[in-house]
Amino acid sequence: MNIDFTGKVVLVAGGTGGLGRAVTLAFLEHGAQVAVTWRHEAEFTSLSSAAGDAASRLAGFNVDVTDARATAALVEQILARFGRLDVLVNTVGGYAGGIPLWQLEPETLERMLGLNLLATYALARAVAPVLIARKSGSIVNVAAKAAWDHAAGASAYAASKAASLALIDSLAADLLGTGVRVNSILPSIIDTAANRSAMPNADFSKWPKPEDIAKVVLFLASDEARVIHGASVPVFGNG
Ligand SMILES: NC(=O)c1ccc[n+]([C@@H]2O[C@H](COP(=O)([O-])OP(=O)(O)OC[C@H]3O[C@@H](n4cnc5c(N)ncnc54)[C@H](OP(=O)(O)O)[C@@H]3O)[C@@H](O)[C@H]2O)c1
Repeated sequence: MNIDFTGKVVLVAGGTGGLGRAVTLAFLEHGAQVAVTWRHEAEFTSLSSAAGDAASRLAGFNVDVTDARATAALVEQILARFGRLDVLVNTVGGYAGGIPLWQLEPETLERMLGLNLLATYALARAVAPVLIARKSGSIVNVAAKAAWDHAAGASAYAASKAASLALIDSLAADLLGTGVRVNSILPSIIDTAANRSAMPNADFSKWPKPEDIAKVVLFLASDEARVIHGASVPVFGNG
């Protein structure tokens, strides 16, 4: 197995987040130049310092990727800076749960649709033409187990993740024959600092680590996964 992204440019949307940070560091470790989006500068500063010497191959952009125009401009900036773009990984997303539908505020549904669906759309819309022109490249979208498993209290989250999965499935059909691949991964609970503080009594050992999920992302993004297109890959672990 040869996973080497030397000379490749990767956009990790949400690259400062719980999963995105591990994905970004893994791409840097495998030689890529990585552009990340950030919303809080301190998180980008922290990511840069974790990257060490590889921070010279890391660039950060303060962009709201639920805004399709701003996201298109981001891709132009990445092309201007790096001259190419090979991979998109979308780790932007949000969660709202414990709310029966009849108590769900419209703003919460709109926030879930923004973070989990509009961001997927805006990023894929901006990046796909660049990859199609190169006749190569890969998109990995982070959905969630909730896209399949529609639990009580999670209607907005489940619906928005299911919609993002459908959007990516349809994009996979659009991309047939172009040389560009797209796949989704479906995490359940990830072992992030935010989840540890939200569920302090849980057994953390059962939760997949961001670094282990990052390995799946790198594989799907790499040429080693050239026969995988249009897949939805569960990354729940076996705990
Ligand atoms: N954590 C889990 O247990 C779990 C389970 C299943 C699925 N997932 C999915 O996995 C993905 C990553 O989850 P995570 O736990 O790593 O989430 P996270 O820690 O909240 O990270 C999300 C990242 O996206 C950024 N972001 C938020 N809104 C944005 C916007 N409008 N434009 C640009 N960037 C924005 C955040 O920046 P700021 O932090 O600066 O706002 C953060 O860097 C998400 O799609 C999530 O739904 C997570």
